[in-house]
Amino acid sequence: MSLILHRLLPGRVALLAGVTFSIVLLACQPVAAPPATIARKAAKASMAPAQMQPASFYETPFERRPSVAELTELGRALFAEPALSESGKMSCQSCHSPQHAYSAPNALPVQMGGTHLTTPGLRAVPSIMYQQATPAFSEHFSDNDGDDSADQGPTGGRTWDGRVSSAHDQAALPLLSPLEMANSDRASVVIRLRSSSVAARFATAFGAQTLSDPEKAWNGLLWALEVFQQSPGDFYPYSSKYDAVLRGQAQLSTQERRGLEAFNDARRGNCAQCHPSAIKRGAFPAFTDYGHINLGVPRNRHIAANANSTWYDLGLCGPMRTDLASRADYCGRFKTPSLRNVGLRKSFFHNGVFHSLDDVMRFYAERDSQPQLFYGRTDQGGLQMFDDLPPTMRGNVHVEAPFGAQRGGKPALTRAEMRDVVAFLRTLSDGFKPG
Ligand code: HEC
Ligand code: HEC
Repeated sequence: MSLILHRLLPGRVALLAGVTFSIVLLACQPVAAPPATIARKAAKASMAPAQMQPASFYETPFERRPSVAELTELGRALFAEPALSESGKMSCQSCHSPQHAYSAPNALPVQMGGTHLTTPGLRAVPSIMYQQATPAFSEHFSDNDGDDSADQGPTGGRTWDGRVSSAHDQAALPLLSPLEMANSDRASVVIRLRSSSVAARFATAFGAQTLSDPEKAWNGLLWALEVFQQSPGDFYPYSSKYDAVLRGQAQLSTQERRGLEAFNDARRGNCAQCHPSAIKRGAFPAFTDYGHINLGVPRNRHIAANANSTWYDLGLCGPMRTDLASRADYCGRFKTPSLRNVGLRKSFFHNGVFHSLDDVMRFYAERDSQPQLFYGRTDQGGLQMFDDLPPTMRGNVHVEAPFGAQRGGKPALTRAEMRDVVAFLRTLSDGFKPG
């Protein structure tokens, strides 16, 4: 804890006023210590809106209010527009590729961004599909379900640490992050928008004067990006084989069915505890309960920031998020991602440390029985369990099934069961055509 948080506090509070909706941006500024650039960039990249007034955002007095269909198509064009980045080469789509379930098109654990596309990011790109029902972040979530209404702890929000609540606030992050699209401020984004290929369409949608009003233009940009991400055909088509099975239009193969059983079984995979697989109150499953959990994912030595042994990405408790910095018990928690389309992804977990579903399965099944497969060694040669957490925080790690096996003992799933679960996970990719 002391390793990083003490360096990062006290934070610097940056207030960007003068916009129709005022977001309070909290950025923490490292006091000292190498690698200063990484830490500073991370802090800046992490600006988290702490308070929002969503009503006023939607009440922006545009000259013209476009229809949902217009906003969707405008948002689609903006999402693919590289002119909105300082490099002129990076759009949302560079990292969230439509052909890869709107996640990274390559197997890099983190993407390169910034002015010259040479600055490495800090986290793996999540898929941004099936996010439409994400609840706003709450430390005490309960889904009021009768038998399941207990406090489920930190839940929801957007990004891996839930620090943003709406898709329009989220869209501001990459546009202004020095690790990503690298604009220095909102006004520069609007200047770029004015001379982009989308400018004419933007002016048609919101009115001719909008582009000369930076505050309205900024809100219009974020709104169109948000509405595009609410488009069912693009972002939540429910067209996987598993959806067809739920509708009675297809059947799982024997292996896929065995995989689903192991996935649901509380004594084997226990995956459905956090990645629910059943229809609930009429809604098809999102394969996430949006909970924030510490799985003790191994440190990824291929992330540049990790060259500094005192740098840790601790998720909920910081440093990208700053409001829960005092909650040492939250350190290491990250949001449970949806497993829909997970078969199209090439890097897994918040730090992209694994590159195949087989490796992910071995981690779940053998983390505690065969930890030497996953974790590094100390200078003295001893095994360093949970090596991506400072030593004092290693007790935060989740130990219930499928975890909790004895060292050297029997893993929760056999190799054959792991293959079955992977076969099942592959039925969650959209685009299945029932025969
Ligand atoms: C350089 C790569 C990159 C670019 C460009 C980029 N993103 Fe992301 N996106 C990420 C990463 C990495 C995260 C996870 C960030 C975190 O957890 O702090 C993310 C997270 C998100 C999320 C939250 C997903 C979740 O699981 O809650 C959304 C929504 C999103 N991006 C939309 C966008 C939009 C819209 C744009 C364009 C304005 C964009 N992204 C541009 C890399 C990128
Ligand atoms: C206690 C809750 C919990 C259980 C049980 C659980 N998961 Fe997860 N899962 C998570 C969380 C949290 C993450 C993200 C962790 C991180 O990145 O640090 C995750 C991430 C994943 C990912 C990576 C997805 C991506 O987009 O990067 C896969 C695949 C996955 N889980 C599959 C499974 C399977 C299969 C099982 C059962 C063997 C399982 N999970 C059991 C909470 C859980």
